[in-house]
Amino acid sequence: MRDIHNILILTGAGISAESGVATFRGPGGLWEGHRVEDVCTPEALERDRAQVHRFYDARREQLAAVEPNAAHRALARLDAEWAGDLLLVTQNVDDLHERAGSKRLLHMHGELKSALCARCEARQPWEAALPPGHICPACGASALRPDIVFFGEMPYRMDVIEQALAKADLFVSIGTSGAVYPAAGFVQTARYHGAATLELNLDPSEGSLWFAESRMGPAGTLVPAWVDELLG
Ligand code: OAD
Ligand code: ZN
Repeated sequence: MRDIHNILILTGAGISAESGVATFRGPGGLWEGHRVEDVCTPEALERDRAQVHRFYDARREQLAAVEPNAAHRALARLDAEWAGDLLLVTQNVDDLHERAGSKRLLHMHGELKSALCARCEARQPWEAALPPGHICPACGASALRPDIVFFGEMPYRMDVIEQALAKADLFVSIGTSGAVYPAAGFVQTARYHGAATLELNLDPSEGSLWFAESRMGPAGTLVPAWVDELLG
């Protein structure tokens, strides 16, 4: 196996589960109480803008009540101490990685604490509720929407992610079901480019067979142990 310099980490809802943020799939998951098509598609935004905004307002408000857990903190420590390249790509729209201290971080599915102008694509930090009709300070259109990548939209920064996948020596997937593409396909791309692959998840993801190694358990336990191992 080649030496490890470049690490690419993908996280999903499972890493925030122990902080009290609901995952999407499974019992008690967010998609259990909502049809994805009602809240997370461009069509839903056209049809019932207020409902979509309310759904994300509720989730933004919840962030004040949750804290990063041991898994977020371990990844922040790895970021601070790892001398080689490292990129943390999260599918999560919460802010727990940055609150834990991660810097080399990219939100591929957007962020709750950001508003996006549907007209000019300007973004701005957003903390409060975001009812429909807010005026974009950049272009004046009343077109601010949650800065969330809906189904059918292209995830953010795919160029940067593809480059990191191509040069990764190690790809690690944490707390994601592997149900949503393109993120679910990252393991195959990383393997194609010769990376070692590791999955840390509560139970086997849909793409589990693609990983050279899988460890099953809660992220709050598995991730700190893995980071200790890596940092020696
Ligand atoms: P899912 O809800 O699909 O999957 C969460 C995964 O985390 C499952 O495989 C669980 O077994 C695992 N899990 C639960 N608790 C865990 C724990 N304590 N430790 C480790 N693993 C745990 O969430 P994602 O895979 O993140 O997209 O979902 C991907 C995308 O689908 C989301 O980004 C979202 C959603 O539609 C958008 O909103 C754009
Ligand atoms: Zn604008």
